[in-house]
Amino acid sequence: MEKLMIGGGRPLQGVVTISGAKNSAIALIPAAILAESEVVLDNLPSLSDVAVYSEILEELGANVTWSGSQMRIDPSRIVSIPMPNGPVKKLRASYYMMGALLGRFKEATIGLPGGCNFEPRPIDQHIKGFEALGATVTNEHGSIHLYAKELRGAKIYLDVSSVGATINIMLAASRAKGSTIIENAAKEPEIIDVATLLNSMGAVIKGAGTETIRIEGVTEMHGCRHSIIPDRIQAGTYMIAAAATRGNVLIDNVIPKHLEALTAKLLEMGVRIEELDESIRVIGQAKYENADVKALIYPGFPTDLQSPMTSMLTQAEGVSVLSDFVYSNRFKHVPELVRMGAKIRVEGRSAIIEGSKLNAAKVKAADLRAGAALVIAGLTVEEGITEVTGVEYIDRGYDNLVSNLRHLGADVWRESEQIEE
Ligand code: EPU
Repeated sequence: MEKLMIGGGRPLQGVVTISGAKNSAIALIPAAILAESEVVLDNLPSLSDVAVYSEILEELGANVTWSGSQMRIDPSRIVSIPMPNGPVKKLRASYYMMGALLGRFKEATIGLPGGCNFEPRPIDQHIKGFEALGATVTNEHGSIHLYAKELRGAKIYLDVSSVGATINIMLAASRAKGSTIIENAAKEPEIIDVATLLNSMGAVIKGAGTETIRIEGVTEMHGCRHSIIPDRIQAGTYMIAAAATRGNVLIDNVIPKHLEALTAKLLEMGVRIEELDESIRVIGQAKYENADVKALIYPGFPTDLQSPMTSMLTQAEGVSVLSDFVYSNRFKHVPELVRMGAKIRVEGRSAIIEGSKLNAAKVKAADLRAGAALVIAGLTVEEGITEVTGVEYIDRGYDNLVSNLRHLGADVWRESEQIEE
């Protein structure tokens, strides 16, 4: 096991280039199963979740070649073998195997997903969608078994605008007979990215990015080449890190529109921001105003930036309130920030944050974005070394984090964690 060592007090300076979006990549890789010939994905991030997904596809018989930021997936020899255990258990997003295998083979057995356990995360809306398309879904000893004699298009109203359920239904419905309409669909940019890939593979999907998505099922899909959108959460994390350390950073290879909710909030706090076509410059200031932040579904403030934003708000003057309306209890970073001297209390869905200086401490990342919050907090500390354990979570969503931060002038390195007897 490794830990991150962070010597803070250095304003981040320079340029950081953002890689492809994790939450797109881990939907686009299984989507390739629906094709009969090779799918090439460019701008792929180098993350442990991506490696797990390539393992899953190889286990099914796909030929996967991953080199640099490109992955070539030849799914022509794939079969739908039951996957009750193994790599599917390591990844929450292995739920996309259900939609992809159901679409192509009308049958799948997938172990219940693992991943970041910051609160119970049901998949009832995914299952409701598959059932509406004509599948029988049963839970057999902890694995979900899906079977359909035939998939038929249907009208599906999602009770919650779930990213995962929207994508999963698009995957299965692409190979169903007739038309499917998803109402109250999630509108996140990653959904548009998946629809773009599926359409390039021969699917007929309209309305992705709005709350009504229409899918005309097709009988065959083919390979194509697709470039993944930039990771807006990674970009947002660097924007916050630049502001929190009072630095000056150009965040390159981003779609500024995807970051509007964060940009608006940082501007409100007093951060200087310059938006260019494909990059954003963040110029930190000595003092920041407090702010109230509400994490909502897209285009609201992203829940995945809620934890990093908590660290930013410790740097503001006065009291800020940060509420998460997507997840009710995504606050595992708070007790760790308190160990670093933060004055935060959690009340229901909200964290109440009083601005204060942070000090170095030994802290533990309990999930991916909590880890990002602790790294940002460590970067703001003026003296001493902050030790962050739980690095395996951070590696799920931030590629080249240490080298990127070092390139921006931070004093950050990895060390092996000594297991105490
Ligand atoms: N929900 C249900 N039933 C469902 C599905 C979701 O009640 O069947 C609820 C969830 O409990 C939650 C809300 O709906 O309260 C949103 O969940 P959603 O399904 O949208 O989340 P997800 O698809 O499982 C993706 C990202 C998350 C990100 C959320 C929200 C992937 C693999 N994961 O999760 O990313 O937080 O959307 O934007 O795309 C992360 O990157 O750190 C991460 C956790």
